[in-house]
Amino acid sequence: MNVTKTTALAHSNIALVKYWGKRNTQLNLPAVGSISINLENLHTTTSIEVKEHLKSDELFLNGNPAKKHESERVRSFMDLLRKKSGNKIFTEIISHNNFPTSAGLASSASAFAALSLAASCVFGLQSSKEELSELARQGSGSAARSIYGGFVEMKKGSRHDGIDAVAIQLAPKEHWELRLLIAITSESKKETGSTDGMKLSEKTSPYYKGWVKSSTPDIDEMRSAIYNKDFQKLGELAEFSCLKMHGLVMSSRPGLLYWNGTTIEVIHAIKELRRRGTAVYFTIDAGPQVKAICLPKDTIQIKKELEQIPGVKKIIETPLGGDARIIGGES
Ligand code: PMV
Repeated sequence: MNVTKTTALAHSNIALVKYWGKRNTQLNLPAVGSISINLENLHTTTSIEVKEHLKSDELFLNGNPAKKHESERVRSFMDLLRKKSGNKIFTEIISHNNFPTSAGLASSASAFAALSLAASCVFGLQSSKEELSELARQGSGSAARSIYGGFVEMKKGSRHDGIDAVAIQLAPKEHWELRLLIAITSESKKETGSTDGMKLSEKTSPYYKGWVKSSTPDIDEMRSAIYNKDFQKLGELAEFSCLKMHGLVMSSRPGLLYWNGTTIEVIHAIKELRRRGTAVYFTIDAGPQVKAICLPKDTIQIKKELEQIPGVKKIIETPLGGDARIIGGES
Protein backbone atom coordinates (compact mmCIF):
# COMPACT_ATOMS: atom_id res chain seq x y z
CA MET A 1 0.00 0.00 0.00
CA ASN A 2 1.22 3.50 -0.82
CA VAL A 3 2.32 5.85 1.93
CA THR A 4 -0.35 8.54 2.28
CA LYS A 5 1.22 10.54 5.08
CA THR A 6 4.86 11.23 5.82
CA THR A 7 7.11 13.65 7.68
CA ALA A 8 10.55 14.80 6.59
CA LEU A 9 13.18 16.94 8.24
CA ALA A 10 15.80 19.03 6.48
CA HIS A 11 18.44 21.36 7.85
CA SER A 12 19.09 24.87 6.72
CA ASN A 13 22.44 25.68 5.18
CA ILE A 14 24.73 28.66 4.86
CA ALA A 15 26.78 29.31 1.76
CA LEU A 16 30.53 29.78 2.14
CA VAL A 17 30.73 30.55 -1.59
CA LYS A 18 27.54 32.35 -2.47
CA TYR A 19 24.94 31.72 -5.12
CA TRP A 20 23.45 34.89 -6.59
CA GLY A 21 21.99 35.02 -10.10
CA LYS A 22 20.10 32.63 -12.37
CA ARG A 23 20.97 31.39 -15.85
CA ASN A 24 17.37 30.24 -16.37
CA THR A 25 14.56 31.65 -14.26
CA GLN A 26 11.90 29.12 -15.19
CA LEU A 27 13.94 26.07 -14.23
CA ASN A 28 15.70 28.04 -11.50
CA LEU A 29 19.17 27.26 -12.82
CA PRO A 30 21.99 29.07 -11.04
CA ALA A 31 24.39 31.37 -12.91
CA VAL A 32 27.17 30.35 -10.52
CA GLY A 33 28.06 27.30 -8.44
CA SER A 34 28.12 27.53 -4.64
CA ILE A 35 29.45 25.74 -1.57
CA SER A 36 27.64 25.50 1.75
CA ILE A 37 27.64 23.91 5.16
CA ASN A 38 24.53 22.33 6.58
CA LEU A 39 23.31 23.50 10.02
CA GLU A 40 22.21 20.99 12.66
CA ASN A 41 20.14 23.27 14.90
CA LEU A 42 18.16 25.05 12.19
CA HIS A 43 15.64 22.82 10.56
CA THR A 44 12.25 22.50 8.91
CA THR A 45 9.90 19.63 9.67
CA THR A 46 7.26 19.03 7.00
CA SER A 47 4.33 16.63 7.19
CA ILE A 48 2.38 15.92 4.06
CA GLU A 49 -0.84 13.99 3.81
CA VAL A 50 -2.89 12.96 0.78
CA LYS A 51 -6.49 14.15 1.22
CA GLU A 52 -8.97 12.76 -1.29
CA HIS A 53 -11.48 15.61 -0.91
CA LEU A 54 -9.02 18.45 -1.62
CA LYS A 55 -9.16 20.34 -4.93
CA SER A 56 -5.81 22.05 -4.35
CA ASP A 57 -2.91 21.72 -1.91
CA GLU A 58 -3.34 23.30 1.51
CA LEU A 59 -0.35 24.74 3.28
CA PHE A 60 0.15 25.62 6.95
CA LEU A 61 3.33 27.36 8.03
CA ASN A 62 4.36 27.50 11.67
CA GLY A 63 0.79 26.77 12.81
CA ASN A 64 -1.04 29.23 10.52
CA PRO A 65 -2.59 28.97 7.05
CA ALA A 66 0.06 30.18 4.61
CA LYS A 67 -0.20 33.55 2.87
CA LYS A 68 -1.43 33.61 -0.74
CA HIS A 69 2.00 34.03 -2.35
CA GLU A 70 3.48 31.25 -0.18
CA SER A 71 0.66 28.85 -1.10
CA GLU A 72 1.00 29.68 -4.78
CA ARG A 73 4.73 29.00 -4.72
CA VAL A 74 4.20 25.64 -3.04
CA ARG A 75 1.28 24.68 -5.30
CA SER A 76 3.30 25.24 -8.45
CA PHE A 77 6.10 23.21 -6.87
CA MET A 78 3.62 20.41 -6.15
CA ASP A 79 2.49 20.58 -9.80
CA LEU A 80 6.01 19.42 -10.70
CA LEU A 81 5.46 16.28 -8.62
CA ARG A 82 2.01 15.69 -10.11
CA LYS A 83 3.53 15.97 -13.58
CA LYS A 84 6.47 13.71 -12.74
CA SER A 85 4.38 11.00 -11.07
CA GLY A 86 1.29 11.25 -13.27
CA ASN A 87 -0.68 11.31 -10.03
CA LYS A 88 -3.35 14.01 -9.67
CA ILE A 89 -3.64 13.91 -5.86
CA PHE A 90 -3.74 16.99 -3.63
CA THR A 91 -2.24 17.24 -0.21
CA GLU A 92 -2.26 18.99 3.13
CA ILE A 93 1.20 20.26 4.00
CA ILE A 94 2.13 21.27 7.53
CA SER A 95 5.54 22.85 7.90
CA HIS A 96 7.41 24.15 10.94
CA ASN A 97 10.70 26.00 11.15
CA ASN A 98 12.51 26.03 14.47
CA PHE A 99 14.12 29.41 13.60
CA PRO A 100 12.99 32.86 12.32
CA THR A 101 11.45 32.60 8.84
CA SER A 102 12.56 34.71 5.84
CA ALA A 103 15.09 36.81 7.70
CA GLY A 104 18.21 35.60 5.95
CA LEU A 105 18.41 32.22 7.64
CA ALA A 106 17.66 30.22 4.50
CA SER A 107 14.22 29.02 5.56
CA SER A 108 13.37 28.32 1.90
CA ALA A 109 16.38 25.98 1.69
CA SER A 110 15.30 23.66 4.51
CA ALA A 111 11.61 24.08 3.59
CA PHE A 112 11.91 22.99 -0.04
CA ALA A 113 14.40 20.23 0.81
CA ALA A 114 12.01 18.76 3.42
CA LEU A 115 9.05 19.19 1.06
CA SER A 116 10.89 17.52 -1.85
CA LEU A 117 11.65 14.49 0.27
CA ALA A 118 8.22 14.17 1.91
CA ALA A 119 6.30 14.86 -1.31
CA SER A 120 8.39 12.41 -3.37
CA CYS A 121 7.49 9.80 -0.80
CA VAL A 122 3.69 10.30 -0.92
CA PHE A 123 3.76 10.56 -4.71
CA GLY A 124 5.42 7.14 -4.80
CA LEU A 125 8.59 8.40 -6.51
CA GLN A 126 11.71 6.42 -5.66
CA SER A 127 13.94 9.47 -6.02
CA SER A 128 17.71 9.30 -5.65
CA LYS A 129 19.44 12.06 -3.69
CA GLU A 130 20.49 13.63 -6.98
CA GLU A 131 16.88 13.68 -8.22
CA LEU A 132 15.74 15.13 -4.90
CA SER A 133 18.37 17.83 -5.19
CA GLU A 134 17.22 18.67 -8.72
CA LEU A 135 13.63 18.84 -7.55
CA ALA A 136 14.44 20.94 -4.48
CA ARG A 137 16.38 23.38 -6.69
CA GLN A 138 13.18 24.18 -8.54
CA GLY A 139 11.63 25.32 -5.27
CA SER A 140 14.64 27.34 -4.15
CA GLY A 141 18.23 27.30 -5.43
CA SER A 142 19.80 26.86 -2.02
CA ALA A 143 17.36 24.01 -1.18
CA ALA A 144 19.23 21.75 -3.60
CA ARG A 145 22.13 21.88 -1.09
CA SER A 146 19.98 21.05 1.96
CA ILE A 147 19.37 17.49 0.73
CA TYR A 148 22.87 16.66 1.95
CA GLY A 149 24.55 17.05 5.31
CA GLY A 150 28.03 18.41 6.00
CA PHE A 151 29.91 20.23 3.23
CA VAL A 152 28.00 20.55 -0.02
CA GLU A 153 28.71 21.89 -3.50
CA MET A 154 25.99 23.05 -5.85
CA LYS A 155 26.97 22.57 -9.47
CA LYS A 156 26.02 25.33 -11.85
CA GLY A 157 25.61 22.77 -14.63
CA SER A 158 25.59 23.56 -18.32
CA ARG A 159 22.60 21.66 -19.70
CA HIS A 160 19.48 23.52 -20.76
CA ASP A 161 17.19 21.02 -19.04
CA GLY A 162 19.04 21.56 -15.74
CA ILE A 163 19.53 17.92 -14.82
CA ASP A 164 23.20 18.61 -14.09
CA ALA A 165 22.40 21.62 -11.87
CA VAL A 166 22.38 19.57 -8.68
CA ALA A 167 24.26 19.50 -5.40
CA ILE A 168 26.78 16.89 -4.31
CA GLN A 169 28.24 16.20 -0.90
CA LEU A 170 31.91 17.18 -0.66
CA ALA A 171 32.35 15.69 2.81
CA PRO A 172 30.08 14.55 5.63
CA LYS A 173 29.83 16.63 8.83
CA GLU A 174 32.27 14.27 10.60
CA HIS A 175 35.04 15.36 8.21
CA TRP A 176 35.67 18.61 10.11
CA GLU A 177 34.04 19.82 13.28
CA LEU A 178 33.11 23.45 12.74
CA ARG A 179 30.74 25.66 14.68
CA LEU A 180 28.48 28.46 13.60
CA LEU A 181 27.28 31.26 15.84
CA ILE A 182 24.39 33.14 14.31
CA ALA A 183 23.94 36.65 15.65
CA ILE A 184 20.26 37.51 15.23
CA THR A 185 20.02 41.26 14.75
CA SER A 186 16.40 41.43 13.56
CA GLU A 187 13.48 39.04 13.33
CA SER A 188 11.52 40.97 10.73
CA LYS A 189 11.00 39.66 7.23
CA LYS A 190 13.33 41.00 4.57
CA GLU A 191 11.93 43.51 2.10
CA THR A 192 13.36 42.03 -1.08
CA GLY A 193 13.42 38.28 -1.57
CA SER A 194 16.42 36.63 -3.18
CA THR A 195 14.73 35.97 -6.55
CA ASP A 196 13.81 39.63 -7.01
CA GLY A 197 17.20 40.72 -5.69
CA MET A 198 19.00 38.45 -8.15
CA LYS A 199 16.94 39.73 -11.10
CA LEU A 200 17.72 43.30 -10.14
CA SER A 201 21.46 42.65 -9.85
CA GLU A 202 21.57 40.88 -13.20
CA LYS A 203 19.65 43.64 -14.93
CA THR A 204 21.27 46.69 -13.42
CA SER A 205 24.61 46.05 -11.71
CA PRO A 206 27.75 46.92 -13.67
CA TYR A 207 29.50 44.25 -11.54
CA TYR A 208 27.27 41.31 -12.48
CA LYS A 209 29.46 39.92 -15.28
CA GLY A 210 32.54 40.11 -13.06
CA TRP A 211 30.67 38.35 -10.27
CA VAL A 212 29.73 35.41 -12.53
CA LYS A 213 33.19 35.19 -14.08
CA SER A 214 35.05 35.25 -10.77
CA SER A 215 33.01 32.57 -9.04
CA THR A 216 34.72 29.43 -10.44
CA PRO A 217 38.11 30.07 -8.79
CA ASP A 218 36.32 30.70 -5.46
CA ILE A 219 34.63 27.31 -5.74
CA ASP A 220 37.90 25.54 -6.57
CA GLU A 221 39.75 27.19 -3.69
CA MET A 222 36.97 26.56 -1.17
CA ARG A 223 36.78 22.91 -2.16
CA SER A 224 40.50 22.52 -1.47
CA ALA A 225 40.27 24.48 1.82
CA ILE A 226 37.60 21.99 2.94
CA TYR A 227 39.50 18.91 1.84
CA ASN A 228 42.72 20.20 3.48
CA LYS A 229 40.92 21.51 6.58
CA ASP A 230 42.60 24.88 6.10
CA PHE A 231 40.49 27.05 8.39
CA GLN A 232 42.15 30.36 7.59
CA LYS A 233 41.65 29.81 3.88
CA LEU A 234 38.04 28.75 4.38
CA GLY A 235 37.32 31.82 6.51
CA GLU A 236 39.05 34.34 4.27
CA LEU A 237 37.31 33.00 1.20
CA ALA A 238 33.91 32.93 2.92
CA GLU A 239 34.28 36.62 3.83
CA PHE A 240 35.47 37.44 0.32
CA SER A 241 32.51 35.72 -1.33
CA CYS A 242 30.08 37.29 1.15
CA LEU A 243 31.35 40.84 0.68
CA LYS A 244 31.58 40.36 -3.09
CA MET A 245 27.92 39.26 -3.18
CA HIS A 246 26.78 42.15 -1.00
CA GLY A 247 28.91 44.56 -3.09
CA LEU A 248 27.04 43.30 -6.15
CA VAL A 249 23.70 43.66 -4.42
CA MET A 250 24.53 47.21 -3.27
CA SER A 251 25.66 48.17 -6.79
CA SER A 252 22.24 47.33 -8.25
CA ARG A 253 19.85 50.13 -9.17
CA PRO A 254 18.14 50.88 -6.86
CA GLY A 255 20.82 49.50 -4.55
CA LEU A 256 19.80 46.85 -2.06
CA LEU A 257 21.13 46.77 1.47
CA TYR A 258 20.26 43.72 3.54
CA TRP A 259 22.20 44.87 6.61
CA ASN A 260 21.30 46.96 9.62
CA GLY A 261 23.61 48.88 11.94
CA THR A 262 24.11 45.90 14.23
CA THR A 263 25.15 43.73 11.26
CA ILE A 264 28.10 46.08 10.78
CA GLU A 265 28.91 46.19 14.50
CA VAL A 266 29.10 42.39 14.53
CA ILE A 267 31.41 42.36 11.49
CA HIS A 268 33.76 44.76 13.30
CA ALA A 269 33.64 42.71 16.49
CA ILE A 270 34.62 39.58 14.54
CA LYS A 271 37.51 41.41 12.91
CA GLU A 272 38.63 42.67 16.33
CA LEU A 273 38.49 39.15 17.78
CA ARG A 274 40.70 38.05 14.92
CA ARG A 275 43.18 40.87 15.55
CA ARG A 276 43.38 39.59 19.13
CA GLY A 277 44.24 36.09 17.88
CA THR A 278 40.93 34.20 17.72
CA ALA A 279 40.21 32.37 14.48
CA VAL A 280 36.71 33.53 13.54
CA TYR A 281 35.22 34.68 10.24
CA PHE A 282 31.83 35.97 9.13
CA THR A 283 29.36 35.35 6.37
CA ILE A 284 25.95 36.93 5.71
CA ASP A 285 23.12 35.88 3.38
CA ALA A 286 20.34 38.07 2.00
CA GLY A 287 19.39 39.38 5.43
CA PRO A 288 20.83 41.18 8.47
CA GLN A 289 22.02 38.17 10.54
CA VAL A 290 25.74 37.57 10.86
CA LYS A 291 27.05 34.02 10.94
CA ALA A 292 30.37 33.63 12.72
CA ILE A 293 32.31 30.54 11.65
CA CYS A 294 34.72 29.12 14.21
CA LEU A 295 36.31 26.02 15.71
CA PRO A 296 34.63 24.29 18.70
CA LYS A 297 37.33 25.36 21.20
CA ASP A 298 36.66 29.08 20.64
CA THR A 299 32.85 28.97 20.70
CA ILE A 300 32.26 30.06 24.31
CA GLN A 301 34.58 33.07 24.11
CA ILE A 302 33.19 34.29 20.77
CA LYS A 303 29.60 33.84 21.91
CA LYS A 304 30.29 35.89 25.03
CA GLU A 305 31.77 38.75 22.98
CA LEU A 306 29.01 38.80 20.37
CA GLU A 307 26.22 38.64 22.95
CA GLN A 308 27.39 41.91 24.44
CA ILE A 309 26.94 43.92 21.25
CA PRO A 310 23.91 46.24 21.57
CA GLY A 311 21.27 45.17 19.03
CA VAL A 312 22.19 41.48 19.05
CA LYS A 313 18.92 39.82 20.09
CA LYS A 314 20.24 36.33 20.51
CA ILE A 315 22.92 33.95 19.35
CA ILE A 316 22.04 30.58 17.85
CA GLU A 317 24.87 28.10 18.12
CA THR A 318 25.09 25.11 15.85
CA PRO A 319 27.42 22.35 14.69
CA LEU A 320 27.11 20.98 11.16
CA GLY A 321 24.00 18.94 10.35
CA GLY A 322 23.23 15.73 8.51
CA ASP A 323 21.22 14.74 5.44
CA ALA A 324 17.53 15.51 4.92
CA ARG A 325 15.57 12.49 6.13
CA ILE A 326 12.17 10.93 6.62
CA ILE A 327 11.26 10.95 10.32
CA GLY A 328 7.75 9.49 10.24
CA GLY A 329 5.19 7.95 7.92
CA GLU A 330 1.87 6.12 7.82
CA SER A 331 0.09 4.04 5.24
O1 PMV B 1 17.84 29.81 -2.55
P1 PMV B 1 17.48 31.24 -2.67
O2 PMV B 1 16.76 31.55 -3.94
O3 PMV B 1 16.78 31.75 -1.47
O4 PMV B 1 18.84 32.08 -2.77
C1 PMV B 1 19.86 32.04 -1.78
C2 PMV B 1 20.77 33.18 -1.88
C3 PMV B 1 21.77 33.34 -0.73
O5 PMV B 1 21.26 32.77 0.44
C4 PMV B 1 21.99 34.82 -0.48
C5 PMV B 1 23.13 32.73 -1.07
C6 PMV B 1 23.23 31.25 -1.00
O6 PMV B 1 24.06 30.70 -1.74
O7 PMV B 1 22.52 30.61 -0.20
